[in-house]
Amino acid sequence: MNGVTAGRSSHPPPEAGAPNGAPLLALRDITKRFPGVLANDRVTLEVRAGEVHALLGENGAGKTTLVNVLYGLYQPDAGEIVVDGRRVRIRSPRDAIACGIGMVPQHFLLVRRHTVAENIALGLPQEGLLRPARRVERRIVEFATRYGLTADPGARIWELSPSEHQRVEILKALIRGARILVLDEPTSVLAPQEVSGLFDVLRRMKGDGHAVIFITHKLDEVGAIADRVTVLRRGRVVATVPAADVDRRALVQMMVGRDVESTLPRARAAAAGEALAAEALEADNDRGAPALRGLTLAVRRGEIVGLAGIAGNGQRELVEVLTGLRRAVRGRVRVLGRDVTNRTAAAICDAGVAHIPEDRVHMGVVATMTVAENLVLRRYRHPPFARGPLLDYDAIMRFAREMIAAYEIATPAATTPVRLLSGGNIQRLILARELAARPGVIIAAHPTSGLDVSATEHIHRLLLRRREEGAGVLLVSEDLDEVLALADRVAVIFRGRIADVLPVGDATPERIGLLMTGQAA
Ligand SMILES: Nc1ncnc2c1ncn2[C@@H]1O[C@H](COP(=O)(O)OP(=O)(O)O)[C@@H](O)[C@H]1O
Ligand SMILES: [Mg+2]
Repeated sequence: MNGVTAGRSSHPPPEAGAPNGAPLLALRDITKRFPGVLANDRVTLEVRAGEVHALLGENGAGKTTLVNVLYGLYQPDAGEIVVDGRRVRIRSPRDAIACGIGMVPQHFLLVRRHTVAENIALGLPQEGLLRPARRVERRIVEFATRYGLTADPGARIWELSPSEHQRVEILKALIRGARILVLDEPTSVLAPQEVSGLFDVLRRMKGDGHAVIFITHKLDEVGAIADRVTVLRRGRVVATVPAADVDRRALVQMMVGRDVESTLPRARAAAAGEALAAEALEADNDRGAPALRGLTLAVRRGEIVGLAGIAGNGQRELVEVLTGLRRAVRGRVRVLGRDVTNRTAAAICDAGVAHIPEDRVHMGVVATMTVAENLVLRRYRHPPFARGPLLDYDAIMRFAREMIAAYEIATPAATTPVRLLSGGNIQRLILARELAARPGVIIAAHPTSGLDVSATEHIHRLLLRRREEGAGVLLVSEDLDEVLALADRVAVIFRGRIADVLPVGDATPERIGLLMTGQAA
């Protein structure tokens, strides 16, 4: 037997789309507990050959945990997995692959120095790594043609864009014999026009009798690609329904457990005067390679500028330079008319800049300190929290209780250590602390990533309110829907420069998508 087809030949070809046939895959009563969290609570899910089955849920609903159990990365505490009518034990990804299960994880695991063909050969038994056999390359071309997945077998992984990288992961799974392919939030790394390309590939796969489990928290994607959808909430299945039978509103209700307003109330921006300016900024990344290459961008008072772009185009370095965490090699930074280029983070904060950091647990809070202490972290040496050298605990506690109420921070007490709070509540705490000082400039990096719909809605309202009060907001987000919902203008970053800045009314996903991938003039 040719090693390339391992895992495939032992199974009869599935009957494509057989509506009444037995499911290709069944998860029954899967329970998975982490310390303090019931991540999956008796989850039952059946997936048919020839269907795209969406797994929809808010962040933290238990989607990734469930597919990690399926792929053998976690062992369930209870429950069983049935493939093709046979109960299987999946102790590792190797077992999963042998059962015909493939996974495209959210964070790619390919070896960066190797070529596409070498990476794919690595996952196959009996294939040498150093000189991947011609037949691997032939196999790649054959599969790539069949599924519309263009890939150059000789390209090195580090040369690939996120979308090309994803295609290689899909090819790798298919060539290893996957009949059930799991994609965990695959569109989060794609530009809008790349999403339809991915959907074309998935349609070909299902036409071929494959089953696709498509994880998302985006409602529109369910209607665009899924045949059926299973909604998870807090680790439990809410329902499995045909995608054609549910509208957006019904899905939101299932996902969140209540109605959520889809459009935010917003007054017209009355932008005036410069709040923040970056001029011809150049800076290096952690490896010493240029990350910002002459970036120029301005944010006015009373407006939100959304910075859209695919991760890794200089967003992180820009935020760090603007907040005093990274040196600019060239160029200037101005805050409210004052030059703050290469000043310290504390000086930039004092100049009126609030920073909502990307890595909130490591940079936003001191996890071992209490909620109250974290709320005054930036200002405890100043009145009203300090009188001379002494801290005024009553004032600190009063302020903390006010903030907990105003920002709806769910915590047992002001004296609870922050490490016991959920991600959404840590983020509310950071916003409370950063926004209470009424900053003139807010730099928010991925402020809602990993948060559920309610926390996201709350944070959006807070940012809009500060904008109405005259703050200039730079919103860095990989979520284009978020950018389009909040921003007055959309700046697109590509390879360390601003490709263009569009008023939000002109910023269609297609236009932004082209700019994000460097295709528009
Ligand atoms: N390795 C882990 N250790 C502890 N808790 C975890 C781990 N992985 C996930 N969780 C928790 O399990 C719950 C479900 O998480 P996850 O499956 O990642 O959700 P989703 O993919 O739907 O966003 C969350 O509360 C999360 O914090
Ligand atoms: Mg997940």
